[in-house]
Amino acid sequence: MSVSNVPGAPPPPPPPPILELRDVEASYGPFRSLFGISFAIAERGVTALLGSNGSGKTTVVRICSGLLHPTGGQLLYQGEDVTQRRAFRLARMGVVHAPEGRSVFATLTVEENLVLTFRQVFGRRGSRAALEKSYELFPRLGERRRQLAGTLSGGEQRMLSLARVLVRAPDLLITDELSLGLAPLIIDEVYATLATIHSAGTALLIVEQHVHQALTLADHVVVMGKGRVSLSGLTAELGDISERILPAMQGETTAGTRGAGA
Ligand SMILES: Nc1ncnc2c1ncn2[C@@H]1O[C@H](COP(=O)(O)OP(=O)(O)OP(=O)(O)O)[C@@H](O)[C@H]1O
Ligand SMILES: [Mg+2]
Repeated sequence: MSVSNVPGAPPPPPPPPILELRDVEASYGPFRSLFGISFAIAERGVTALLGSNGSGKTTVVRICSGLLHPTGGQLLYQGEDVTQRRAFRLARMGVVHAPEGRSVFATLTVEENLVLTFRQVFGRRGSRAALEKSYELFPRLGERRRQLAGTLSGGEQRMLSLARVLVRAPDLLITDELSLGLAPLIIDEVYATLATIHSAGTALLIVEQHVHQALTLADHVVVMGKGRVSLSGLTAELGDISERILPAMQGETTAGTRGAGA
């Protein structure tokens, strides 16, 4: 594939992280919510961002997708400084922030909802393939293609809103509390889809209350507490969840903790 395969040649440098935060700070008016957040998401990696309520997770992911600009520090996307880049430009570069809740048109059918989005993005010709891809990712939507979106269950509506963004095959998908309010079976289905998307090459940044669920996919964990990173490391190296991850989420400092602000 590359010159690195020449015998004796040094190994190629690792690719830059797909996304990197360096000493990121954020404020809402006079209220400071982030104090120097640093972590990186590897190309094709899966990072779980955990932490108690109000610790700053949503603020971080809004910064990652350009919905909020930091008041200090830097945001790098594939090595390029995108700190002041707006959300629609980051979206064009391949960053997708999964919409919270159920952003669907209630009085249109499942298929009409999808076609409406896909025609705008891919034109009339491309929309058929996108539709098929959506039904592949979420077979349940295929079964219910003629049903009005407003009559779908909450979980199915969440799938529909996800399908509308996922078919663009983002380089980085950001999800914030994706499983909130969903039944366990639907959560499993949604996570199976995330796994499929990841195996096709998309990096993931997952904010999730269901820590165990997030850790089934995540190779890297970042725990936040009060606007700072309190623990960061490879999932495989952090041991059992109750050893370091849960204590860090409960605000206990752990020996050997890595990460900015630790
Ligand atoms: N628009 C806003 N104006 C003022 N303060 C805000 C605003 N949004 C968030 N905050 C504050 O910033 C802090 C971090 O909030 P954030 O929503 O990022 O936390 P979180 O970790 O996502 O919490 P949760 O787990 O409850 O979703 C909180 O103290 C919150 O009250
Ligand atoms: Mg939040």
